[in-house]
Amino acid sequence: MSTSLKIDSLWTGFHIATMCDGQYHCIENAAIGVTNQRISWIGKEADLPAHQSQIEHDLGGGWVTPGLIDCHTHLVFGGNRATEFEQRLNGVSYKSISENGGGIAASVKSTREETEQQLIQSAQVRLQALIKDGVTTVEIKSGYGLSTEHEIKMLRAARALASELPVEIKTTCLAAHALPPEFKGQANAYIDYLCNELLPEVAELELADAVDAFCENIGFSTDQVARYFNTAQSLGLPVKIHAEQLSSQGGTEMAANFKALSADHIEYITEQDVKAMANAGTVAVLLPGAFFTLKETQKPPIALLRQYNVPMAIATDSNPGTSPVLSLRLMMNMACTLFALTPEEALAGVTIHAAKALGLAETHGVLSIGKVADFVCWNVQSPGELSYWIGGDLLKTRVKAGEITHG
Ligand code: NIG
Ligand code: FE
Repeated sequence: MSTSLKIDSLWTGFHIATMCDGQYHCIENAAIGVTNQRISWIGKEADLPAHQSQIEHDLGGGWVTPGLIDCHTHLVFGGNRATEFEQRLNGVSYKSISENGGGIAASVKSTREETEQQLIQSAQVRLQALIKDGVTTVEIKSGYGLSTEHEIKMLRAARALASELPVEIKTTCLAAHALPPEFKGQANAYIDYLCNELLPEVAELELADAVDAFCENIGFSTDQVARYFNTAQSLGLPVKIHAEQLSSQGGTEMAANFKALSADHIEYITEQDVKAMANAGTVAVLLPGAFFTLKETQKPPIALLRQYNVPMAIATDSNPGTSPVLSLRLMMNMACTLFALTPEEALAGVTIHAAKALGLAETHGVLSIGKVADFVCWNVQSPGELSYWIGGDLLKTRVKAGEITHG
C-alpha cells in the first residue's frame, strides 16, 4: 500500500514567516501542501515526503505570510466626509464636529439614503484596495444605520461583499455607535430599543458574528453599554468595544468582564484595564490610522500591553470620518513609527492576533497544518519589509482557501 502524501496542490519557491506563537518562525526554501482548502503539509521543500499532488505552483521567490486580516473596519457607508477633513485642518475638533451634526450623524444620514446595492457598490471599491494589499479576511461593522431597518441593510451589504470578491467577511453589529436623530436626548430609551428590538432581530436573521459599542463621552456610558452587552450575550453573540479612545471611561475593563473578543483604540487605558484584558483574553486592537487622522498625542500603553502579554492586533478602522484608510500595510508601518511596535509585532498584529480578535484563532492567522490555506507571497527579501515600505505594490501572489486570486 502506498504511503505517499495525497495533496490537492503543492506550493514551492519561497521562504515562509509562519507567525506561529506571534513570531516569524521562518522556514527558508519552503513548501506548502493544500488539501480541501486547508494546509496539509508545511516545511522545508527538501523535507517533503513522497507525495502525489494534482497541481504544483512554483512561486519563484519571495516571502509567504498568512493572509492579512483587517479585524476592525467600517467599510460600508454612504457618501464620505471629506469636508470634515478640511474643517479639522482648519482647527475644528472631531468632538465639536460631532456635536454640531457632523461626524457619525452625517454618515448616518447618507447611509440611510442609499440602497443596499449602492452600499455594496461603493464598499466593493474600498474592499478591492484592501485585497490588493494582501488582506484575505475583513471584519465589517454596521453603525451608520442606527435603526433595525438600516442596520440590517448595512449588515446584509457587508455579507454580500463576500460573494462579489474572494475574501472572507465577518460582520459586527455596531448599533450602539451614536444616537440617531429620532432618539435625541434619550440614550437610555435607545439602548432599550436595541435590547428589545434591534439585537433580537439581527440575531434571528444571523446577520452578525459579534456586537460592538462606542463607549465614550460622545458615545454611550459604561452602564448603557453593559446593558446592551448583556442582551448580546443572552443572544449568544460575542462582544467587542470601541473604548478609551478620547478619554478614560472604564469601558475596556467593563468589556473585559464580558470576556470581550477585543477592546479597540484604547489610547487612554490604565494598568488596571490592561490586567483585566490579560485575565479575560481580550485582544488590544490598535488603530493608528484614527490616531494619526485625529492628530492625537496620547499613545496606547504598548509597554504595559507587552508586560501583561496582551496580544496586540492592528487594523485600518477604515471609516469615512476618523480613518479613511485603505491599506493595512500602511497601518503596520504607522504602528511601528507612531507606537514603536517592532515589524515582527506589526505582522503578528495583522495575522495571529487579528484572527483572535475575530474569534478565528483556531482556523486563521498562522500557517500550520490544519489552518485554512489563506496566504500571500510578497515581493520582499525579508518579512520586515512589509512594515518598512510605505505604499508600493508588494503583493506577488494571493491565495484564498487554496486558490490563487491574484498573481
Ligand atoms: O472607530 N470611534 C468611533 N467610531 C469610529 C469613527 C466613526 C466615524 O467618525 O464615522 C472609529 O473611529
Ligand atoms: Fe472603529
